[in-house]
Formats: sequence, structure tokens, C-alpha cells
Amino acid sequence: MLAVIGGTGLSQLGNLDVSHREVLRTPYGEPSGAVTFGQIAGQPVAFLARHGYGHTIPPHQVNYRANIWALHHRGALGIISVASVGSIRADLKPGDIVVPNQIIDYTWGRKGSYFEGQGAKVTHIDFTEPYDRALRAMLVASAGEIGLPICDGAVYGATQGPRLETAAEINRYERDGVDIVGMTGMPEAALARELGVPYAAISVVANFAAGRGDSRDGISFEAIEGVLVESMGHVRAIIERLVTRGNPARS
Ligand code: HPA
Repeated sequence: MLAVIGGTGLSQLGNLDVSHREVLRTPYGEPSGAVTFGQIAGQPVAFLARHGYGHTIPPHQVNYRANIWALHHRGALGIISVASVGSIRADLKPGDIVVPNQIIDYTWGRKGSYFEGQGAKVTHIDFTEPYDRALRAMLVASAGEIGLPICDGAVYGATQGPRLETAAEINRYERDGVDIVGMTGMPEAALARELGVPYAAISVVANFAAGRGDSRDGISFEAIEGVLVESMGHVRAIIERLVTRGNPARS
């Protein structure tokens, strides 16, 4: 079964034929909300809204451990994370869809590991490639098959939020090699790796990052909402293609 975690702009999967919802408890507390189970094109899919169904949980307060644990526990063999991002690069414009291949983590104070607490063995994971290579490739291929242009590969900078960045911070991130910034990519990706669940991300550019492009003098929230509505339709189409073409998360 494939699982999808939806972010801002994707609080439900319109093309999911819903069978039921489950409220799950985990050793790490409660997930952001009930997990919705159903089918897309006859294939089983689970969906979880990262910020809660009423969009009430800010990025730094999402219980990432509970979310990933719950999806793993209910049999997710792959997780697609959908999230909106700001673009630092002039060639990545609002509305564009990006499948990142690297991460730099600027977040702090989040519970980012299952391997902690009394009696837990010190455990390190390999995170050289933070996203699952095969799942990424399938996402890219799925977009290509339905004729949707996407950017294959980018460095995702995970910022703390909930405030947006300053222009100087964005300049610093660019010097670091960051292409896009978002607030939820970490520790989600690392937690999935700790549990051995293939994880890949679809990032939707909602706006130019602070100080860039038409965000030179500030970021317009109204503009962001309009962009997301259209692009999330494209994201749904990519996911539908992914589950119908056969994927490593099948069954
Ligand atoms: N910065 C961080 N996260 C975001 C942005 C941004 O500009 N846009 C959407 N998510």
C-alpha cells in the first residue's frame, strides 16, 4: 500500500475512493489526524493530512514520529510526501513541481529519531541519499508519462517556521546550495529511513522565497493559495499515475 502525506493545499485526495478512516495511537503520541484508507484506480492508498484536517498544526508542532510510525504500522510500503515550498532559483517558478533529491536540515528542537530514550540502542542510519531512489524515479517517470513537466532533482532546505525566512537567510541558504525551502521535510524523511520505509517528496512551488522574484518586497499569501489549487491537481494526477503503473509500494 502506498501512503501519501498531504501538506498545505492538499488536505484531501480528491481522487481517492474512500473506504474508511482510522484513528491510530502510537508509542509516540497521536498522528496529525485519522488516516484515510481507500483506492485510487483500484490500488490501495492511505492518506494523512500533515497539518490536521482543519489545518491547525503548524510545521514545528507536527508529530512527525507518530505520523510516520502510524503509516508504517498500517502497512505503508512507500510514502509520498507532498508539500509546498518557496523557490530560491529564478528558473523554478510558482506552480512548478519539483522532485527533490537532497536535503539540508535547518530545523531545531523537533523530535527526529525513534532511537532515543531509556534503553534505546545508539543507532545511526545512512542518509547519503535522503529520498528513496526507486520511488523518486517512479514519480519522475509518472509525471513524464502524463506530460507534466517537473524538475528532477533539487536541494530542499528544511526551515523551522512557522514564520517565513528573511531575505538574508535565503541568501545564506542559496550559498549553501539550497534550491527550495519548506518547513516540513525534516525530520519526516529521516524517520521514514529509520523505519526502512521508502520515502520520496513532491514539492510544489507556492512562491518565490523571501527577497526573490516577485517576493522582493514581501510574500503575498493570496497569490500562494491560487497557485496551490491548480498545482495540487497536477500532484493528484501524478500520484494516480504512480499507483496505476505499478510501484514498489504495491499490495
Ligand atoms: N519558505 C518556507 N516554506 C514555505 C515557503 C517559503 O517561502 N513557501 C511555502 N512553504
